Amino acid sequence: MKKTLLILSLLIVLSMLAACGGGGSTPAPAAQPAAQATVAQPAAPSLAAGDPAKGKESFTVCAGCHGMDGKGITGLGKDFTTSEFVKSQTDEQFLAFLKVGRPATDPLNTTGVDMPPKGGNPAFTDQQLLDVIAYVRSLQQ
Ligand code: HEC
Repeated sequence: MKKTLLILSLLIVLSMLAACGGGGSTPAPAAQPAAQATVAQPAAPSLAAGDPAKGKESFTVCAGCHGMDGKGITGLGKDFTTSEFVKSQTDEQFLAFLKVGRPATDPLNTTGVDMPPKGGNPAFTDQQLLDVIAYVRSLQQ
C-alpha cells in the first residue's frame, strides 16, 4: 500500500515537471512561424511597372499579327489601339490574358483566329510581357 502511494506521488511529481518543461518550451516554436511570416512578406511578388521602350523591342513578336502600329492585320491580329478590352484591363489582368491568349474556341473570341499564348513566344517572362503591355498602352488612342 505504501509502495503504491510512493509510486503515485512520484508520478504526480513527474507529470508536474513534464508540464512545467512543456510550458517553458512552448513560446519558442510559437514565435518561429510569426518570424518567418514577417520575413516572407517583402519577398511577395508585386507587379513592377513595364518599360515601353523595352516593350517595343519584344513587340516585334506581336507585330506579325497586330502590325507595328497595333492597328491589326486583316485575317491575323485585331486592332487594339481603340480596344475597350485593353482599356478595361488592369496590368495584372492584361498579363493573365497574354499568358493564355484567346483561342478561336474561346467564346470571347471575335475573329475565329487564335491569339496564341504569349503571342507565340513561350520564352517571354512576366517582366517582358509587362514591358509589352506598357508599349501596347502607349499605342492606345
Ligand atoms: C499569330 C497572330 C497573333 C500574335 C503573334 C499575337 N496576337 Fe494578339 N491577337 C490575335 C488575334 C487573332 C486576336 C483576336 C482574338 C479574338 O478574335 O478575340 C488577338 C487579340 C489580342 C488582344 C485583344 C484585343 C481585343 O480588343 O480584344 C490583345 C490585347 C492582343 N492580341 C495583344 C497581343 C500582344 C501584346 C501580342 C504579343 C505578345 C500578340 N497579341 C500577339 C493574334 C495574334
